Amino acid sequence: MKVISIVGARPQLVKLAPVAAAFAKTEHEHFIVHTGQHYDADLSDVFFSGLGIPDPDVHLGVGSGSHGVQTGAVLSALDPVLEREKPDWVLVYGDTNSTIAGALSAVKMHLPVAHLEAGLRSFNRRMPEEHNRVLTDHCADLLLAPTEEAMRHLEREGLADRARLAGDVMVDICLRIRDAVLAGEHPAPPLPEGIDPSQPFLLATLHRPDNTDDPERLAALVESLAGLPLPVALAAHPRLVARAEEHGIKLAQGSVHVGRPLPYAGLVAAVLASSGVVTDSGGLQKEAFLLRRICTTIRPETEWVETVDSGWNVLVPDPHTLAPSEWAATVTRTAPTRDPGTPYGDGRAAENVVRLLEEWRGGSRHA
Ligand code: UD1
Repeated sequence: MKVISIVGARPQLVKLAPVAAAFAKTEHEHFIVHTGQHYDADLSDVFFSGLGIPDPDVHLGVGSGSHGVQTGAVLSALDPVLEREKPDWVLVYGDTNSTIAGALSAVKMHLPVAHLEAGLRSFNRRMPEEHNRVLTDHCADLLLAPTEEAMRHLEREGLADRARLAGDVMVDICLRIRDAVLAGEHPAPPLPEGIDPSQPFLLATLHRPDNTDDPERLAALVESLAGLPLPVALAAHPRLVARAEEHGIKLAQGSVHVGRPLPYAGLVAAVLASSGVVTDSGGLQKEAFLLRRICTTIRPETEWVETVDSGWNVLVPDPHTLAPSEWAATVTRTAPTRDPGTPYGDGRAAENVVRLLEEWRGGSRHA
């Protein structure tokens, strides 16, 4: 079996790591296409080197652009690659522009598509990720769902016969790296200057267009972080840095110490060293949950509802509308004591993915 993984943005590289490792234990041919959606070393190269992912077989080099330009560039660059490689499966990951472009390119060439992390829904159509995941699910042949909740969404949309519960591959990688960090196999996390990891601090990230692109909102959110009673290590995504510069908003103010995006082991180590996480990232909400740190999410909703139901994650869409003491009390609240169980699987999801691809319709794409 020949499988082409199409990836391009940072969270997809994290998901690719355990999948590539699972394929490496088999006879299957696993071919990696990097679209180039993320190109900064901090968002791309450090994940390949840090997580032991083989170098991409093909790099499309599409870079940044508006949604249409970026998605279209991936689409047109993929055609000759898929035509030449003729894979048995095209595997797309998550919900980025690289995901929808990969899926669309493959279905139009009558190649079977599997969608890893299928069935997640925020029900917020303002998010580009929501369009990407809904459209990808509806055009893919095999839907690899991370959770029971995702399976229910797919069933409600009439996609149950194509859906399989695989578990969440992020558990595989997060727990593996957690163990390596705890065993001292990684250097101390590269935290921003001014953060002492032996003292209480909060780890923060902010990158969603809904939070970064409106100058008034961004200024208010930065002020909310700046007013917190603990030092805040802000691992700043290039989009955040670019928007803040554009609008003349100073990120390093009050409690906020600004640093670069963290490599994966650095992120896991930083979460473990922190008292809690403040974020609008999907992946980080779940990493905080898996590493048992409280998370406060600056969004009106989340796809990872299990983190909220178990009390480890609290949604605060507009922190600047809370009284400063209430906001501070929320991000420094005590952790729940109830065991949250394993809603994201047991850390063997990547093996399930390989098996489900092997088994689908008796292993024949034409069945
Ligand atoms: C993308 C995904 C988002 C994911 C995020 C993880 C889409 C629609 N969004 O958002 O789901 O959570 O990745 O990081 O696919 N930039 C750089 N260097 C880079 C890449 C981007 O400076 O290597 C800057 C550019 O100014 C670019 C902006 O960041 O315009 C946004 O990048 P883009 O890939 O469009 O989306 P993300 O915000 O990273």
